[in-house]
Amino acid sequence: MQHQAITILGIESSCDDTGAAVLRDGKILANIVANQLVHKQYGGVVPELASRAHQANIIPVVDEALKAAGVRKSEISAVAYTQGPGLLGSLLVGGSFAKSFASALGIPLIEVNHMQAHILAHFIQSPVQENKVPEFPFLCLTVSGGHTQLVYVEDYFKMTVIGETLDDAAGEAFDKSAKILGLPYPGGPLIDKFAQLGNPLAFKFPVPKIADLDFSFSGFKTAVLYFVKDNMAMDVDFIEKNKNDICASIQYTLVKILMEKLKAASDLKGVTQIAIAGGVSANSGLRKALLNNTFGWKVFIPKFEYCTDNAAMIAMTGYLKYQKQDFATSSSIPSPRMKI
Ligand code: KG4
Ligand code: ZN
Repeated sequence: MQHQAITILGIESSCDDTGAAVLRDGKILANIVANQLVHKQYGGVVPELASRAHQANIIPVVDEALKAAGVRKSEISAVAYTQGPGLLGSLLVGGSFAKSFASALGIPLIEVNHMQAHILAHFIQSPVQENKVPEFPFLCLTVSGGHTQLVYVEDYFKMTVIGETLDDAAGEAFDKSAKILGLPYPGGPLIDKFAQLGNPLAFKFPVPKIADLDFSFSGFKTAVLYFVKDNMAMDVDFIEKNKNDICASIQYTLVKILMEKLKAASDLKGVTQIAIAGGVSANSGLRKALLNNTFGWKVFIPKFEYCTDNAAMIAMTGYLKYQKQDFATSSSIPSPRMKI
């Protein structure tokens, strides 16, 4: 019997990136993301502007993904969309589009949890060679602009959050520190860039003492704010003169906070397969710390385009759900506070 290919169209619209991807049998054929530049001038994502931009982007992005994949609408097996967590208005745009598209084609609709999808991005197969994927159980540190979670992953859909942030997310700690230094949003990649030229031990910032496997970054942010204020009071050119060293020291401390909790989780669970996911996993300091670990860890880092928000991970999760015939009903609606 001939193998019937499973082709999934994935739609991502949880925050400020509009994404569409086409996946066939676990391999990505196209992965298109439209970034919304409109938020830059406001120093953060403006929800109403994000929804409007999704509305304008969604059809061209899906069109481009199908064209790049060389896939006709009639070949799509199912449409997977980000149901949550995320901004309600943004989720509504992607969700309504996905629902109508699936309904018009008479194919199943699949609901995807964005946080699960960040983790399941590790299972996307390379089109050219067999890639190494984590074996169950493994630990995943999901670090993005909205979330910081330590997840114990026993199976594709058996995931337990064993630690999370009590306040700001790791990405926010990068972005807010960058804002204090006068850098534009999102500042994480800029801190990373300047950090590579600086001395990570030039300045000392506090590492919060938080019980168990939880995280807190709000005290860190306040420490950066007062550090900058105090030094600027003595020298108005302080930031300009020390930008690389400040960024390196901020990054060093944030990576230290993340690595200490990962180590504690690894010891607690007796798990040495460690994965990272989410936008902050693009950070060079975090990647270096993980790859140079002395704990005997086997480390998994997704390809750069699967770290930040993307629809490839949504399509991959949809593919795994399709195999279980786990389909949504026509009353499917977004769930902004969806949990893993
Ligand atoms: O996963 P993501 O694209 O979107 C959310 O779901 O939030 O993550 C975005 C976050 C932003 O806070 C951004 O500053 C951060 O990831 N980020 C980085 C780097 N690249 C992206 N933070 C530090 N270093 C980077 N290289
Ligand atoms: Zn995300």
